[in-house]
Amino acid sequence: MLLEISGFSKHFGGLAAVSNVDLNLEEGEIRGIIGPNGSGKSTLFNLISGVYQPEPGGTMFFDGENVTGLQPHEIARRGIARTFQMLRIFAQMTVLENLLVGHHCHTHYGTPSAIVGRKAVWEEERRVRSEMMDLLAFIGLADYARMPAGELSGGQRRLLALGRAMAMRPKLLMLDEPAAGLSPVNVDKLLDTVMALKERYGLTVIIIEHILKVVMDTCDVVSVLEHGEKIAEGPPAAIKDDHRVIEAYLGKEMDDAEVRAYLRSS
Ligand SMILES: Nc1ncnc2c1ncn2[C@@H]1O[C@H](COP(=O)(O)OP(=O)(O)O)[C@@H](O)[C@H]1O
Ligand SMILES: [Mg+2]
Repeated sequence: MLLEISGFSKHFGGLAAVSNVDLNLEEGEIRGIIGPNGSGKSTLFNLISGVYQPEPGGTMFFDGENVTGLQPHEIARRGIARTFQMLRIFAQMTVLENLLVGHHCHTHYGTPSAIVGRKAVWEEERRVRSEMMDLLAFIGLADYARMPAGELSGGQRRLLALGRAMAMRPKLLMLDEPAAGLSPVNVDKLLDTVMALKERYGLTVIIIEHILKVVMDTCDVVSVLEHGEKIAEGPPAAIKDDHRVIEAYLGKEMDDAEVRAYLRSS
């Protein structure tokens, strides 16, 4: 197992946002996490990435190491990178600088130039820049490297968020609704990029996604949250026939006609 989570819980006041959730991921798998709005998906990501601390009883092992309760930068340094539902792109910085920031967060802890020497620092900078340019080329943004990130289109911003997470050279990439707001063509483009990155870097991936079709077409295993609890888990084909999953989506106010149509039609 690459990731082993047991008994993760997080309350906000009286609300159980995440409730006693277990999650086990094999290396190399693509896991989907689905569930209605407010079911705890983003909170689970925040727990995994160290933004929130799990409540007592929760444990997390990554790559065999107990990483329970570590700070976000410590989690990141162990190889877990994520994107945010709200992208958090630095609009004034160039596209390349956005990637460099992601990279530096990961690697440049406490190596003062006084110790390693200025030439070494400069050479390292050059190497990193060329590595980041290579990454930009791979995700199709090389032509925009020197453009302020704020000038990118919606689809390009989503790619940049992906690139910035990849700049940390993660083993596990966590994507929070990576395709939100994109046109179907751009959704496909983004997913193709995710799959290509996965192959190239041997990633394990967790995708939170409300477009069910994306999850069903892309993921090996899907975990379903409702009211903070994991109510189902399995291969996509089994999940879409699970009555608790169908109820979770159809029993309440439906803001997503696509979800309804997809579940009924398949
Ligand atoms: N920082 C917070 N403070 C208070 N309540 C929160 C906070 N973050 C999330 N919640 C609540 O926790 C529940 C789960 O939210 P979230 O994890 O964002 O759901 P999802 O990503 O599945 O839509 C929701 O009821 C949400 O309102
Ligand atoms: Mg969310």
